[in-house]
Amino acid sequence: MAAAHVPRKALSHLRFRFLLTLIAFSLNFALSDQPRAADPSTASLRETGGWIVLPDRVQPRLAPSLGAQKASCFLSYKAIIPAKRLEAGPHSSRQDWLTWEHDATRLYLPIAQAVPEVLPQAPGNLPIGHERVDLEHPLPLCYEPRDLRPIDRKWIYVKDREIKMRSEAVRYAHRMFEAAKAEKIHLRVVSGYRPAKTQRWLYLRKVEEDGLGQKIVAKPGHSEHQLGTAMDVSGLDPKTVLKPLFAETKEGVWVRENATRYGFRLTYTPENSGKTHYIPEPWHLRYIGMALEKDR
Ligand code: DAL
Ligand code: ZN
Repeated sequence: MAAAHVPRKALSHLRFRFLLTLIAFSLNFALSDQPRAADPSTASLRETGGWIVLPDRVQPRLAPSLGAQKASCFLSYKAIIPAKRLEAGPHSSRQDWLTWEHDATRLYLPIAQAVPEVLPQAPGNLPIGHERVDLEHPLPLCYEPRDLRPIDRKWIYVKDREIKMRSEAVRYAHRMFEAAKAEKIHLRVVSGYRPAKTQRWLYLRKVEEDGLGQKIVAKPGHSEHQLGTAMDVSGLDPKTVLKPLFAETKEGVWVRENATRYGFRLTYTPENSGKTHYIPEPWHLRYIGMALEKDR
């Protein structure tokens, strides 16, 4: 038989090639089963095209206007509607509305009452400093980093509260607070990681007080606090906690001048408030990491 005459050297070469193919195949299989390396954008998140309603119950309108007649149907919290944003029209406020068809009727809802449904493509934490979250880039409502840990209680403004952030952010926050203390600047933390559920509660409360156009609290899924890398800081004086006046205090000035040395950035400044949609927050710091901070 021909096979019996295959030279021994050629046979061992064939065996070697077969083994290599087998290793390559198993490696490929093993890797394809692993979560993909984190993409330094939100590419690992996917918008479904649906919108999640935020208030407990809301009545859509029959035209894109706050004064428009209301439709007869109600939507309850977490109803997912197949809505689209209205195109920009002669009135710029058109884009503040969602529209969809229900039982042959066209309905409208203020965009401030819904968030896009976003699903995670891969499990795990988003890469620090590369996460995109703003008005146009939402997070999945279920996103929660897995490396949250409490900030040392001695730095918490309200003593018995537990406030968490991602481990690396906590480490650098502790360093920053110690450094400030050495200069007689006493910083405290008022808020850190917030799950979307808490953000929703804060958002709806603010909308109730100030209306749908408020520019202070982000919608759930749109807050940097959900990343676990943002915190609100204060000094010891209750009169300046979460107040614009904080910018003028010695703590506010210290934060503005030194936070970047610990990987933290002020996200909402007077310079970018037209772009971010939010009022300046001299107390809101986001950890983006020392590596990125050095690249600036
Ligand atoms: N106050 C900021 C914008 C937030 O709610 O995340
Ligand atoms: Zn904040």
